[in-house]
Amino acid sequence: MKDLFLIDENDRVDGVDKVTGKAKYFAEYQLPGLTYGVLVTSTITKGKITAIDSKAASNAPGVLAILSHLNKPSVPAYEQEGGAKLKIFYTDEIHFNGQPIALVVADTFERATYAATLVKVSYNEAIFNTNFEASVMDSQAKKLQGQPPYKRGIENAYKTADVQVEQVYTIPIETHNPMELHGIIADWKADDKLTVYAKTQGVKSTQNTLANTFKIPAENIQVNSEFVGGGFGMALRTWPLEIATVMASKQLKKPVKLVITRNQMFTMVGNRPAAYQKIGLGATKEGKITGISHTAFGQTSTYETFTEGVVGMTKFMYDSPNVNTNYYVVPLDMGVPIWMRGPGEATGAFALESAIDEMAYALNMDPLEFRVKNDPEKDLAQNKPFSSKNVKEAYALGAEKIGWTNRKQQPGSNGDGSWKIGYGVSVGVFNAGRGKASVKGVLNTDGRLLLQSAVSDIGPGTGTAMTLIASRLMGIRVEKITFELGDSSLPPAPSQGGSSTLSTVGSAVNDLCVALKKQITELAAKVNMEANAHFTEVLQKNNLPSIEITQQSQANPEAKNYAIYSFSIHFVQVKVHQLTGVVKVSKVVSVADSGKIISPKTARSQMVGGAVGGIGMALTEEAILDHRYGKYINNNFGDYHVPVHADVPEIETIFIDKPDPIINPMGAKGMGEIALIGFSAAVANAVFNATGKRVRSLPITPDKILEA
Ligand code: MOS
Repeated sequence: MKDLFLIDENDRVDGVDKVTGKAKYFAEYQLPGLTYGVLVTSTITKGKITAIDSKAASNAPGVLAILSHLNKPSVPAYEQEGGAKLKIFYTDEIHFNGQPIALVVADTFERATYAATLVKVSYNEAIFNTNFEASVMDSQAKKLQGQPPYKRGIENAYKTADVQVEQVYTIPIETHNPMELHGIIADWKADDKLTVYAKTQGVKSTQNTLANTFKIPAENIQVNSEFVGGGFGMALRTWPLEIATVMASKQLKKPVKLVITRNQMFTMVGNRPAAYQKIGLGATKEGKITGISHTAFGQTSTYETFTEGVVGMTKFMYDSPNVNTNYYVVPLDMGVPIWMRGPGEATGAFALESAIDEMAYALNMDPLEFRVKNDPEKDLAQNKPFSSKNVKEAYALGAEKIGWTNRKQQPGSNGDGSWKIGYGVSVGVFNAGRGKASVKGVLNTDGRLLLQSAVSDIGPGTGTAMTLIASRLMGIRVEKITFELGDSSLPPAPSQGGSSTLSTVGSAVNDLCVALKKQITELAAKVNMEANAHFTEVLQKNNLPSIEITQQSQANPEAKNYAIYSFSIHFVQVKVHQLTGVVKVSKVVSVADSGKIISPKTARSQMVGGAVGGIGMALTEEAILDHRYGKYINNNFGDYHVPVHADVPEIETIFIDKPDPIINPMGAKGMGEIALIGFSAAVANAVFNATGKRVRSLPITPDKILEA
C-alpha cells in the first residue's frame, strides 16, 4: 500500500494524509465528555430582544446549558471599553439577521439541534437598511472615508483628455464558502488553562485573541489547527461564535464543539463586500494615459468598520501623471465583511481592468498593446523602483500561449452563428510582503530534520514548500524532513494571509538551514573532519544525538526602498451562446510574475484555484438579500453558484520564475492573491470581444448579455 504513495520532490508532503482521511480537521477531534453546541440566531435584522423563552429547550433531552445575554458568563474583555466590537450574548441588541443570540449545548449534536428549535425569542423590531446600491445613491446615507483620498498631479484630468471613458462597475457580495465549515472545540483544563481545536489561519492570532478576551496568559492557551479545509480569508479572525463556545466550555467545565451550518456561513463569518466603483480614464489619441480617477464604495457593518485596499492598484499599475482615488464604506445592518482572496485588489481590478479594456477599444487599439504602452518604469505612487517586475515578458508569454493572434479586434466578429468567441486579458497585482517568523530545527544523527513553526496551512501547501527549501539547502531528501505547524506552542509565526507565508516563514527556514550548516562546519572542524563531511557523521563524532537551533528572521531593511509586488496576467478565451447568453470560459492561461518558484506543483495549484475562483466571481457568485427582510435568500450551495467541473476548462499556468533580488533569500514572492486578482475582468473583457456587450456588473449572467 505504502508504495502506491511514494512521494517525490514534486508532491505534497501531506497529500497522502489528506486523500486517505488521516489528516484531522478541527471538528474531527473526539475528546472525552465532548458536548455539542448549536446556535440560535436572530430572525430580525435590527432591534432588541424582548424575551427569550428557553423553558421547553431546557427540558429537552440531553440539554446541558443555554447561554444568552440573559445568563452570560462574565467575559473580562467585554467589561472593558473597546475590545471586541460585537460582544456576543452581551446585550439585547440585534445588528443583523442571523446574529447568534443563544447557544444550546447538549450531550449530542442532534439533541442540541432539536433543542435549539424550541428556543422562542421575542423582539422589538427597528427599521433597518441592507440595501447597498440604494445607500450609495442616497446622498443622505452615511458614508465613511475608508482610506484617505489620494491625488497625484491634476484631479480628474481625464475630463480634458482626447479620449475618455467614464463608467460604473459593481460587484455583489461574495461569500468564501470553503469546504470546511467554521467552528471550534473549546476545552478548559483549569480556571486559567484552555485548549482549543480551531479552524484558523493563525494559531498565534487565535491564541492572542482568546488571551485578551478571557484575560489569561497566552501561554496557558493551546491552539491546535494542523489541517484547515480552506479559508480564503474568513478564518483570519476569531469570530464571536468561537468566543461563545469558549464561554460555554468555561461554564460547563466540559469540552464543547460548535460547527456552524452552511447557511450560517453566509451570515456570521464575513464576506467579500459588495462594491460600487466609478472609473474615469483619459488618454491621448495615440494611446497614452493622461489621467485616472477611481472612486469606490464598499460595504461595512454598523457595529464595526471594515475597509480594504480597493483603489490600491489604480495608484501605480499604469504610467499616468495624474491619478486621484477615493474610497468610502457604507455601514449596513449586516454582518461585518472580512478579507476574501485578493482582498480589495480583486474588487478594484475588476473596475480598473475593465475600464482599461474599454479605453483600448475606444482608441481602436489592441488592449494588450495599450497595456504595454502604459506600463510604468517605477511605482509612481510610492516613488520607488520595483524590486522586480517582468510584466512585459508575462504579456508576451501568455499571448503566445492563448493564441492572441486569433483574436479579432472587431467585437462579435469571431465564431459561428451559435457560439461567438472572444479573448480577454487583465492584470492582477498584490503587495509581496515579508513579516517576522521563527522556526525551530532539530537535526538528528539518524539523518532526519524536524522543523517547527506556529504557522497555519489553509491549503496552499506550506509544509511542502518549507520542506523543499530545507531539502535543497541541506541536501536532505524530502522524506527525511518533517515540518510541523498549526500548533500555538511552536515558535511564533504570523497568520497565513496576504500571500506572505512562503516569503515570511520560508525565509526563516532558509536562515535556519544556513545556521545549521554553519554549526555543522564548526563541529566538523572541532573533531578534525572535513567541512563537507555528512552531518550524521559529524554529530556522531561529536557525541551529539542531535543539534537544535531556533532561528528568527525578518524583512531586510533595504526592502523599504522598493515597491515589492507580485503580478499576474490572465488570458481568457470565452464562447458566448448567441441565443441563450450562456458564457463558457473555454481556455485560460494565467501567467505569474512572482519571483522564484519554490514548489512547482503547489504553485500551479494556487494559480488553478485562483482561476476557478475567478470563473465563479465572473460568472456565477452572488449572495442575494431580500431587502424587505434583510435576509439572504440564496444562502446554500443549491442557489449560490460556485463553478463545477463542467464550468472549468483547461487552465494553463506559466511562471516567469525569476528570483526577486530584494524580498528574501529565496527570491520568492507570494502568489495566492494574484491567482484571482484581475481574473473576472479578463472574462468580462473576453465577453465584450465575443459579443460587443460590455457587462459592468458581476456576475455576468445570461440575462445581462441578452438585455438590449
Ligand atoms: Mo487571504 S484574503 O490572504 O486569506
